This record gives sequence, C-alpha cells and structure tokens, in this order.
Amino acid sequence: MDKHVIGVLGGGQLGRMQVEAANRLNIQMAVLDSENAPAKQINLVASDKHVTGSFAKASDVKQLAAKCDVITYEIEHVDTKVLEELEEQRPHVDGSTWSRIQPSWRTVRTIQDKFLQKQHYAKYGLPTAKSIAVGTWHPQGLKDIAEQLGYPMMLKSRTEAYDGRGNYPVHSVKDIEPALAALKDRPLYAEKWANFKMELAAMVVKTAQEADLDSWEKNTLAYPTVETIHEDSICKLVYAPAREVSKQVAKAAQDLARQAVSTFLGTGVFGVELFLLDDDSLLINEIAPRPHNSGHYTIEACHMSQYEAQIRAILPGLASRIPAGATELTVKAAIMLNILGGPQPDSHLLVAQAALDVPGARIHLYGKGDGRPGRKMGHITITGSSISECEIKMHPLIQWADAVRLHRDDKSSSSAASIAATQAELLKKNPAPSPRPLIAVCMGSDTDLATLRPGLTLLDTMNIPYEVHITSAHRTPQYMLDFGKKAAARGLKAIIAAAGGAAHLPGMMASETPVPVIGVPVKASSMDGLDSLMAIVQMPRGIPVATVGIGNSVNAAILAARIVGSSEEKARDWVAEHLKKMEEENLEKEQRLQTEGWKVYKKVDDGRHV
Ligand SMILES: Nc1ncnc2c1ncn2[C@@H]1O[C@H](COP(=O)(O)OP(=O)(O)O)[C@@H](O)[C@H]1O
Ligand SMILES: [Mg+2]
Repeated sequence: MDKHVIGVLGGGQLGRMQVEAANRLNIQMAVLDSENAPAKQINLVASDKHVTGSFAKASDVKQLAAKCDVITYEIEHVDTKVLEELEEQRPHVDGSTWSRIQPSWRTVRTIQDKFLQKQHYAKYGLPTAKSIAVGTWHPQGLKDIAEQLGYPMMLKSRTEAYDGRGNYPVHSVKDIEPALAALKDRPLYAEKWANFKMELAAMVVKTAQEADLDSWEKNTLAYPTVETIHEDSICKLVYAPAREVSKQVAKAAQDLARQAVSTFLGTGVFGVELFLLDDDSLLINEIAPRPHNSGHYTIEACHMSQYEAQIRAILPGLASRIPAGATELTVKAAIMLNILGGPQPDSHLLVAQAALDVPGARIHLYGKGDGRPGRKMGHITITGSSISECEIKMHPLIQWADAVRLHRDDKSSSSAASIAATQAELLKKNPAPSPRPLIAVCMGSDTDLATLRPGLTLLDTMNIPYEVHITSAHRTPQYMLDFGKKAAARGLKAIIAAAGGAAHLPGMMASETPVPVIGVPVKASSMDGLDSLMAIVQMPRGIPVATVGIGNSVNAAILAARIVGSSEEKARDWVAEHLKKMEEENLEKEQRLQTEGWKVYKKVDDGRHV
C-alpha cells in the first residue's frame, strides 16, 4: 500500500493496535521500546527495524529515525529536543515536502506541558478551564492562587502526568499542604474546577500539515462524540455515542475538538477530552497528539479505526485519501470497558474470560505479561443496534471489573474464587439494566388513562420497551417541554400523546422533538371528543402529528409499533404477525358465513379483535 516505513516512539497497547492496522495495509512499522513491548510482539515483519531502548533517550530516538521514513508517537512524554535536531538535519520525507515527524515535535512540546497546552487554547480563544502556573513551593503562594480560582481547584503536574497521576484536588485550604507534598518536585499549575455533568471525548483526524484555525472544516475530520467514565481518574468506560446527549451538543463537541486540533502543526489523530457543563457549554480538558483510549471502540464500531486513521494521516501519499464519512459509526452503538490489573498477576483475565460468554464481545489483551493493580491490560468492546443492548451485554462484565477492583488492594482475599464471589454479589445488588424505552405514552391528565388502557394492554404483548407519563401541556408545561427536548437523545422512537378538549399536548410535544408524535383524541365531557380530534389533527403546516380516531389508543399503539419497526426488526415482525392474525380471523369468519348463511351466523366476540 505504501513503501514508507513508519517509526513509532513507544510500543505499548496504542502502538500495538497501530501495528495491527499497519499489518492489514501491508505497511511496515518500526517500534522503539523495550525488548518485548506489546507492539513488537505482533510485528515480525519489521523486526530488523525495531530499536530496543527508550523513547525518552536521544540516542535511541536517533537510531529509530535512521530506520524509518516517518516518525510518530504513541505517547507524548518523549524527548522533543532530539526530534527538533532530527528535523534540522532532515526535515522532509525524501523527495517531498512532507515533514518526517508527524505530528510536529512543536505540537508535542506544547501538549506535553499541560500548562503551555492550556495557554495555547486560551491564545486561540478556545474555551478551557482558567489556569495559573505555580511558581513557588510556599503554601502561601498556592493560597493566593486559590483566592483567584476559588475552591475546589485542581493542582496538576505540568508534565509526565497520565491516568490521574499528577492531579490533586484541592477542596479547601486544608488540602494545600498535602497537595504540595503529593506533587513534590514536579512543575505545577493550578486549574479552576470544572463542575462538569459529563466527560466527553472526540477523536479528530488532521490531514493538513499547517496549523490553521480558519481551515478546521477542511483539514480535520471528527469521530463521534463519546461519553467517558473515569474511576480513580482512569478511564473505565466509553459510550459511543454519548448517552442522552443531544445531537446539537454532540456536534458542538466535535466542532470544538476539530477547531482545537486545527491549531496544532502536523498530521495524525488527536484525542480531545472535553467537559460538558450544566448549561451544555463545553470546555477542552486536554488533547493527546496520538491515538487515545477513548477511541479504542473505533476498531469495531467505525468504518476506519483511529489506528488506521493515524497511519493514513501521517503518510504523504495517504493523508489526502481519507474520505469524509470514514470516521462514522457502522453500528448504532458501542461500549468499551477497560481491563485493569488486579491483586494477582492474572486477576484481570477473569474479566476477559467472562467476555468469552458474551456474544459479540471483542476482547483485546495487550500482551503486557503480569498485571499490576490498576494497570491497563486490555479492553473489551461490545457493539449493538442500540446503547441499551450494549449496556445489557456489558453489565456482567462491569461487575467483574468492579469485583477485581474491590479486591485490588486487599491482599488477604485475592483468589479467583473470592473475586468471583464478589462478582456474584455485585450482580445481585445491581440487577441488569432494563431495556431503554422506545415508545413513550404521555397523557395530559390521569383521566386519559382509561382511554389509553386498551393501547397499553396491546403494547404489553409487543415486547417493545415503553414508558407511561403524565405530562400536561397546561399544568406542567415546562416538564412536558423538557420531556420532549430529551426524547430523541434518550432513544425514543415514537411518542403517543393523548389529550382531551383543548388538546395541546401532542402538538406542543411535536414542536419540541423530531421523534414522531401520535395524537390520541380523548372524548372529554362535551362534544364527544370532536373538539380534541380537531385540536390534534389541525396542526399548522410544518409540525405534523399523526392522529388516530377518537379514543383509538389501539391504533396509536400499532402505529407506534410500525414506526419503531422501520428500524427494529422485532417490532416489524410483530406488526406483520398482527396483520396475519387479523387476516386469518377474518377468513375464518368468511368461511363460517358461507357455511352457516347469514340468517344463522352469529358474531362471536372472543376478544381477539383489536
Ligand atoms: N479542572 C478540573 N475540574 C474537575 N475535574 C477535573 C479537572 N481536571 C481534571 N479533572 C478530572 O481528572 C481526570 C484526569 O485529569 P486529566 O487532566 O485529564 O489528566 P490525565 O492526564 O490523568 O488524563 C479528568 O478526566 C477529570 O475527571
Ligand atoms: Mg485526561
């Protein structure tokens, strides 16, 4: 596919997964890391080009540079001075204007100092938490900074920080001395606390070498916005797409991530970590100039994995060959669970082994040998036709991961049997999540429940998860509007809304959500429900509400099943089965009528007719 040899600084799991992608493209990758590093184990094809040594040591980096055409990273804690020197000696891939180091060492130098990174975003007017460099080891200096940033604040090491190692939350003045002691001898800065409601991330592919914020739409592609869950400051779970996050917020996160990445020199993939605040605004937390834990899911869930994107983006002949759409999901949803080391060298394998029993669970073990408590040893990805399906499948595996964690620091009970017993207890305590509802049935008042009952009874037979609410357009307008606003992001596919009299509920609901709304006119105290029928059916142009006959909640339920059925096979099957049943019943009647004659024929109401 491409004759250039890629040299990668670091050969951990990210390097290993890059090698996997390179192998498929028949591209060689030379790895600089220790003898049996994960990336080397699966890369015999370039074995004569690997370098045994450290990505932080200049002479080793030079050795790697001599054996490859393009140098890239799987970790940002590298020696950028030697990269600068190498660039001076030979800036470009032979016979081209393509930089040999991708992304640029300048990018890595800015990013590897978190404070410089923050200043970089501030310079471009990109939203990020306010940060102040800590220039003194004297507690008073930090107290003064806290006066400016307020409590709580985060004290962070500027360099060499990862998986939370380098952060210390300072909740009050009492924490100042312990924080300084914990991060002793490290260059520090303080960061304003971000009161986030969710942590988001988006992988971005940058294909142009120059840094140009104005060209972000042309020069970058974004993977979906995902939700990341951290535990002990280590990424535990990634949900793709982010759960219950509206399309607008997800798009805003992708755009911000792309803008931020476009300000850096060089090409490659970048992992952008974001905070989503209560008012739905976003802050950039940090960016990694390389593939990222939050993008593992792309291997199974996207057209092109982040690893393949990295390989394509850094090579002169392939960077322009990444089509728009390549970063999109091929499935509706995916969840990734990290497998962390437990109390025994092989405890983490319990999680991987449990995944063998989950259909479709994709297990990745990194070949790191013995596990150490909290060390990233592998991950599991589950894809599915909904986040709910993935959640249900992942649930027992999360209990395994939690059980391993609970035993992590407890040397007295670290056997596989005791971890298994804890997993069983956790499963009992935390039952599997129920499937997320696909249909919502809303009523303006509880008096409408009687009308809805036949429809609800039918819904019960469909095996389609649904929920029932009282959301009055008049008495609880805000609640109703909020419900509508969140409906799409919550995965609802149809809303049945019943109301009588001045029946505003279905129409107002439809004005708030792109989810189809089916109105059920309810016969109130006067006009036999005609008033409600007219109120629902006579929607203004542009905001349709599918309207069924007065009181016909059964048809509303079947129509909802038909809508859900356009994307869910099970619902479609139910509708097809229902039609067949009705046909058979009617043919049976016809046959009886022909046999008995109309004078004898008696209508039988066996309750089957709906
Ligand atoms: N300013 C902040 N306010 C609140 N929480 C923070 C802040 N900065 C970091 N965190 C929390 O700590 C985690 C790790 O911090 P981060 O700066 O991303 O370091 P690391 O290099 O360890 O990933 C974040 O994912 C977030 O949960
Ligand atoms: Mg981070």
